Amino acid sequence: MSDDNKPSKLWGGRFTGSTDAFVESFTASVTFDQRLYHHDIDGSVAHAKMLLKADILNAGECQQIVDGLESIRQEITSGKFQWSVALEDVHMNIEAALTDRIGVVGKKLHTARSRNDQIATDLRLYVRDEIDQIEKLIGQLQSALVDLAKQEASTIMPGFTHLQTAQAVTFGHHMMAWFEMLERDHSRLLDCRKRVNLSPLGAAALAGTSYPIDREYTATLLGFDRPTNNSLDSVSDRDFAIELAAFASILMIHLSRFSEELVLWTSTQFSFIELPDRFCTGSSIMPQKKNPDVPELVRGKTGRVIGHLMSLLTLMKSQPLAYNKDNQEDKEPVFDLLDTVKDCLHAYAEMVPAIICNRATMYSAAKKGYATATDLADYLVMKGLPFRDAHTVVGKSVAYGIEQGKDLAELSLQDLQKFSALIADDVFDVLTLEGSVNARNHLGGTAPEQVLTAVANARAVLEKR
Ligand code: ARG
Repeated sequence: MSDDNKPSKLWGGRFTGSTDAFVESFTASVTFDQRLYHHDIDGSVAHAKMLLKADILNAGECQQIVDGLESIRQEITSGKFQWSVALEDVHMNIEAALTDRIGVVGKKLHTARSRNDQIATDLRLYVRDEIDQIEKLIGQLQSALVDLAKQEASTIMPGFTHLQTAQAVTFGHHMMAWFEMLERDHSRLLDCRKRVNLSPLGAAALAGTSYPIDREYTATLLGFDRPTNNSLDSVSDRDFAIELAAFASILMIHLSRFSEELVLWTSTQFSFIELPDRFCTGSSIMPQKKNPDVPELVRGKTGRVIGHLMSLLTLMKSQPLAYNKDNQEDKEPVFDLLDTVKDCLHAYAEMVPAIICNRATMYSAAKKGYATATDLADYLVMKGLPFRDAHTVVGKSVAYGIEQGKDLAELSLQDLQKFSALIADDVFDVLTLEGSVNARNHLGGTAPEQVLTAVANARAVLEKR
């Protein structure tokens, strides 16, 4: 302890003046990086074992350090550990506690390493664990989508382009579109994991260390695929965090699109689906309201995750080699984006199985919007009319239908024949919504049979993971 009764700085040797109180809290990260304590202790335990292997510590010293670190871990987990802002960060809080507990041997732990390789290691370990949790959550949501797609494989709804009724599609097909987006997110996440799972430990401050360390050994102990190649790069770049944020932003953009549709579909005007009460809230003034808060919030949280991607990109931009204190600013965006993504995936994995489809409403909405107009054009092409001419014939038929207040299937054969003599009474087979969706029976098409094939393929993909 120094005279002002504060814990003395572990780096205080070359200083004569004490740190300004504001600067002390301005530069400290312990308020937020304490959540890395498990990974920090794991890294230190591996480092101590490596120091033993390299004869830098003896067996007794290594054991004392490992036991001391494990008792600190327990104390932190139980909530009894006293974090000190004066000790700046998670690393120095734990190291100081270790020396308090086991005495001078604790001071040997920091041999052949620096906080620079320590923090790079901690963050990679933390992110790797989070990636593994997120991977599972994506799988749970995908599996819920597959179940719903199977259940609604032949449920007909209007498909939209420009949010105008375009062609009939099946609800199951629509669910499987979301499955595909998540499938790409999943593969982006695993790809990112490969570049996260490399060990910077041993890079020390920036140049490596003069001790006979064994980087392969610590990498193996910590479950990394291998050590990183260049010490300067290892302590400085945070591109793995940027990649993670890019993955998270794209995932959130997908969830925001999903959310937007759920918000639309639950509106009185659409009424395609209902969400159970537990995912909605009411209004304090309008008694009739049931608001789709969960999808709205997920849509809103997308902005903050994209914001974190921008923060991390801007943080890294133009930083000279090697470590700079700027990098301390990577923690809060990374932590928050991980928390946000996990919460949103969790909410969706719970909500999707609870979606209730109003099949009749979707069906009549599809009927109203001339969703089979393209089918009529295709019918005429099959009878020999060039597609452009067929397009004109159908355009005129639709205009007539609008004038009469009738859907194409409700027009009489004589009415339809006014626009083309090629039309015969088999036309009504293609003018039905069922005929329209069943006709799109090829890989990637909306036909119920294709949805069931896509469901089976998706289940096989999920089971293989
Ligand atoms: N709290 C720091 C960070 O988050 C740890 C590394 C500090 N290194 C240093 N030389 N000041 O990046």
